[in-house]
Amino acid sequence: MKIVISGASGDLGRKITALLLQQVPASELILLTRHPAKLAAATALGAEVRKADFDDAPGLERALRGGDVMLLISTLSIGKRVQQHTTAIHAAKAAGIKHVVYTSSCGIQPQTPSISGKEHYATEHVLQKSGLHFTILRNSWYADVIPQLLMPAAIAMGTIGFSTGNGMVAPVAKADCARAAASVLANYRTHTNAIYEITGPQLFTLADMIAHCSTVSRKPIVYQNLSHADKQAIFDAMGISRDYQEGMMNDTTNAWASDEMITYEMAIKQGFFSICSRHIEMITGQPALSFAKVVQLHRASWDQQE
Ligand SMILES: NC(=O)c1ccc[n+]([C@@H]2O[C@H](COP(=O)([O-])OP(=O)(O)OC[C@H]3O[C@@H](n4cnc5c(N)ncnc54)[C@H](OP(=O)(O)O)[C@@H]3O)[C@@H](O)[C@H]2O)c1
Repeated sequence: MKIVISGASGDLGRKITALLLQQVPASELILLTRHPAKLAAATALGAEVRKADFDDAPGLERALRGGDVMLLISTLSIGKRVQQHTTAIHAAKAAGIKHVVYTSSCGIQPQTPSISGKEHYATEHVLQKSGLHFTILRNSWYADVIPQLLMPAAIAMGTIGFSTGNGMVAPVAKADCARAAASVLANYRTHTNAIYEITGPQLFTLADMIAHCSTVSRKPIVYQNLSHADKQAIFDAMGISRDYQEGMMNDTTNAWASDEMITYEMAIKQGFFSICSRHIEMITGQPALSFAKVVQLHRASWDQQE
């Protein structure tokens, strides 16, 4: 069996690769990146690293040859993703791959206001019409985002705001998304044409989650219930581009296009993320991490800034 992983140099791809290496021989892995040097350590372990770019269809097809199943990790390039993912799906079929596992998003409905949701919806449609076997992993909002990325500033400022109203979400640990993906890939034939809701074990409002973080940090953090226009003004004042710029989501800024972030909050407010499943436990045999556990795992980094 040959398992191909796109986006293998990224954070999610590395987590999934590390888990798969505990389940299958390294020689069964084909890891894709535009920059093979990034994955030198995996090459040393015996995995095959191939150069591939979703913007280069012929090269992508060559890179996919010999694979049985491909994990298509959605790219971050808002606006270009449907084209990139379509190229990858067609290349997979032309290369003889039989099954594609796709990392989608929670709340995939035609009416979603979320820009990324619309792109995932379109990609799911292309995949389901492709004639390939598929498994779709609809990942909920990463539970890590608040404790890892947003809490340091919230503690420093004593406040944080969202325009999600009373909308609910079951935040999921990124590590659990990786666990589910690795399990599906290692046993992909048992997940043929399944669509899974990859969520945490409990629904919360954003206010609930901030209140929990405030309690854990022992710092008062005022939750602001913002309008979408207020939130947009905050992003604009921070100088965050409304459109996606290649490379904008990096370790320093952690910013995505503000149009995407605002429409994601709209989707939460309108109930598109109000989905809580037990699919992680069903797929992996272990329950999903609670939000409280994910907070606990990241809170050491808050202490460092005090
Ligand atoms: N659920 C949530 O809350 C949430 C939040 C944010 C993101 N996400 C999703 O999380 C997933 C992965 O995130 P991550 O943290 O692993 O991202 P990351 O660390 O930034 O990695 C991005 C990966 O995409 C690859 N890539 C980008 N453009 C490419 C192209 N044109 N051709 C081939 N590969 C390309 C990169 O490969 P090279 O540069 O090596 O070629 C890299 O491996 C994405 O599916 C994203 O949509 C989910």
